[in-house]
This record gives sequence, C-alpha cells and structure tokens, in this order.
Amino acid sequence: MKKTTDTCDFVTGFRHSAPYIHAHRGCTFVIGFTGEAIADEHFAGLIHDFALLHSLGIRLVLVHGARPQIEQRLKERGVESRYAHGLRITDDDALPCVKEAVGTVRVDLEALLSMGVANTPMSGARIRVASGNFVTAQPVGVREGVDYCHTGQVRRIDGVAIRQQLEDQRIVLLSPLGYSPTGEVFNLSAEEVAMHAAIELRADKLILLLDGPGLAQGRKPVRQLSPSDAERLLTGRRSLPEDLARHLSSATQAAKRGVRRAHLVTRSIDGALLQELFTRDGVGTLITTDVYEGLRPATIDDVGGILELIAPLEAEGVLVRRSRERLEMEIDHFLVVERDGMTIACAALYPYTEEAVGELACLAVHPDYRGEDRGDNLLAAIERRAQDNGVRQLFVLTTQTAHWFRERGFAPASVDDLPVKRRGLYNYQRKSKVFIKALEDR
Ligand SMILES: CC(C)(COP(=O)(O)OP(=O)(O)OC[C@H]1O[C@@H](n2cnc3c(N)ncnc32)[C@H](O)[C@@H]1OP(=O)(O)O)[C@@H](O)C(=O)NCCC(=O)NCCS
Repeated sequence: MKKTTDTCDFVTGFRHSAPYIHAHRGCTFVIGFTGEAIADEHFAGLIHDFALLHSLGIRLVLVHGARPQIEQRLKERGVESRYAHGLRITDDDALPCVKEAVGTVRVDLEALLSMGVANTPMSGARIRVASGNFVTAQPVGVREGVDYCHTGQVRRIDGVAIRQQLEDQRIVLLSPLGYSPTGEVFNLSAEEVAMHAAIELRADKLILLLDGPGLAQGRKPVRQLSPSDAERLLTGRRSLPEDLARHLSSATQAAKRGVRRAHLVTRSIDGALLQELFTRDGVGTLITTDVYEGLRPATIDDVGGILELIAPLEAEGVLVRRSRERLEMEIDHFLVVERDGMTIACAALYPYTEEAVGELACLAVHPDYRGEDRGDNLLAAIERRAQDNGVRQLFVLTTQTAHWFRERGFAPASVDDLPVKRRGLYNYQRKSKVFIKALEDR
C-alpha cells in the first residue's frame, strides 16, 4: 500500500489521538479565554476547535473575558479606567460600559458558535448555546480603603442548571458578570468564574487559555506541577507576569479543590488546545494532584516499599521473584509512585543499549489503588525514560497480563526477538509470552 508522508503523519496522528477521543467523551471541560483572544484575528480557529470538542461528545462550559472590549467602551465614553491591586474598580459610570461590552461579546460569541455556514470546517454542525443567570455574585466591597463598587466576586454557581444544559447537549457560555439576589449586576474576573464553575461542576478539566507564552523554567516549558509546586512558584522570588500569575493561581485553586486536571495553555500556537488534549505530552502546563506527581525514580530507600508491594504478586506467580540484594543493585532501573510515604506502584526499565531496545519489567499497582490510570501513567513514564535512553522498542515478558499490554500497543513477539543477552536468561519453564512495542522518536 502506497502512502505519502502527509498521509502517514495524518494516520499516525489520528491513531494516537484515538485513546484521547475515547477518554474525553462525556467529560466536562471548563475552558476560559480572554477578551484579547476574542479580538484576535485567529479567533475563528479557536471557535472551530470548540465546535470540534463539542462534536466529540465533550461537555463544554466556555467562560469568556472582555477586558479590551470594556476598555474600548470606557475610552469611547470618556470614562476613566481605574484599577486597584490589579482589580478593576467598577463605579457607576463604568458599569454601563461593562454591561454593554460584555453583552456585545456574548452575542458575538453566540453568533460565531451558531455559524453553520459553508466553507468552515464545522459546516453543518448544529450547536446550541445556553447562557443565562448561572452566576450569583456579591460585592468585593471596600478593601484597604478602596471601594470597588460594582466589582464583585463569585458567590455561587448554579451547577444544577448548568448540568441540565450540558445534559441537553448545549454548550454553556458564561460571561464575567454575576447577579446578586438583590438584583444588582457585578463585574467579575473571567478566570474566577471559570475556576468556580469547574469546582462546582467537579469538571474533569479546567483549561485556561493564555494570551502570552506559557510557564517555562529558563527555556524549558514546565509541563506539570503539583498545586504545592505551583504555590511555591506564585510566592517565590521570581515574579511571574501578572496575567500568568492570575491564571496560575486560579488553576491551582481549582486543582486543590477537586478539579482533577487544570491546564494552562498558550493560545499563540495554532491548535494548541487540540494538542494539549489529544497528544500525550501536550503543549501546556498541567496542574494536578494526581499520583503522577508522586511518580519518581526510585532510590535505595524505596527497596523496602517495593518488596512489600511486589511480594504478593511474586507469591501468585504474576511477577518473577527478586531478592532484596538484586533489587538494591537494580534500584536505579525503577520508577515508583509514592503516596503519603507508601509505595503504591512501581515499574522498571532495563535498557539494552546496543540493540536500542529496553525491557519493561516489574510493573505493579497496589490492589487498593488500581483502576485510576496509574498503570498507564507508569507505562508512559517508562516509555519516556526509554526514549530518552535511545530505546526504540520496548518489550515485556508476561504470563498473566498479556491483554493489558496488547490493549496498550504491544504486539506478540517471540523469544528470538529478544536481545541476545536477554534470550540467554529466558526461563523456559515459566513460559512467559513476549510482547513488543515500537516507540516514536523524540
Ligand atoms: C496491570 C496493572 C499494573 C494495571 O494497573 P491499573 O492502571 O491500576 O489498572 P487496573 O488494574 O485497574 O486495570 C485497568 C484495566 O486493565 C484491565 N486489566 C487489569 N489486569 C489485567 C490483566 N492481567 N489482563 C488483562 N487486563 C487486565 C482491567 O480489567 C481494567 O480494564 P477496564 O478498564 O476495562 O475495567 C495492575 O493491574 C497490576 O498491578 N497487576 C498485577 C501485576 C501485573 O500483572 N503486572 C504486569 C507484570 S508483566
């Protein structure tokens, strides 16, 4: 079968994104973006990406900002734009500008999302949008002698009503405005609305799109942070750009309060949102309390914990027996997942550098902690480690877990496919099956 390079790239990319398409279906994502993003000439591309996510069965809550649009109105009306501690002061003159600007942006977004016109990638896709009084607000009040007037903070999000709209397959559009039970209107920060919505809905993801570049340490992008690492960054000596800090703070609070994954993604890369969601490494920064953050190379102090974890599996014959001495000698090959000081999962990589292959061995997750992707996370980490070591093919020997590996891209192979050295050590009595997976170049 003849294939062009483009076709190959497409087919490979599409196949690799399939597990993510499957995993995200039915999930709730809250996506926040700024007024600057809306004003950008490439905004239509982002709208198409939202439409695509919706068509893949993802339940979407979109939260828009409107800062430049508000600034524009204030300027047109000759109203002074006032800020204190990074927060807009919305006085009686500013409030009508805020309402007009936010209202106009909302209408424009609804129109863009309704666009079923020809010549767009999503032509024909009928999208229903719901916006309304989902956000209850209260005044920020007077702080350090400054009266913030109609600037408010989120008091409550109507999760029941939003869920109902999502059930009915509508995209929910939230604006940075909230209403009080006394009938007043308050100007809110879009990140705050997005964060509270994600927490209230126990969203699978909160994704905040950044106008500027993403989080980096030196030139290296920061791919993942635990909430405590993020807090250290926020309070650390190195000051972050104000916008980035605000977004990072909202994402961190969300992650601490039950949102499993909060992402910061720069919108300056075309398709960044899709890359973040449908490729393994993504392009943004993920803030999560997931056990992945506790995944690290093992040290000699982990030997006891690993032995305890694998002993029952050795007794069952699922794993090959390893003595303490052997484990101590080979500890550098291991990765462990530690939770509250307990080793709850492990895996090892034995590279055979000459043949550019590596053995994945001793993969185990404690029975109390199975069913939450820890095995997948370990496998991904082992694959990354293998790729970093120039390994192009990963093999595994297994007696009882063949299908788990097959479902993750490993193909049946034979003992003859093993590196010579490993073949010599093959235990013919154990009759383990051999599986091999080709790794991508990095
Ligand atoms: C394999 C293992 C690491 C995966 O851990 P995990 O990520 O927490 O995932 P789970 O155990 O919840 O299993 C995830 C899925 O794989 C399936 N699975 C688990 N063990 C399996 C096996 N031996 N064969 C086939 N499928 C298996 C589960 O049924 C589940 O499928 P589902 O999502 O359709 O229900 C874990 O099951 C384990 O420690 N097993 C014992 C040790 C082992 O067999 N290691 C491999 C040695 S070569």
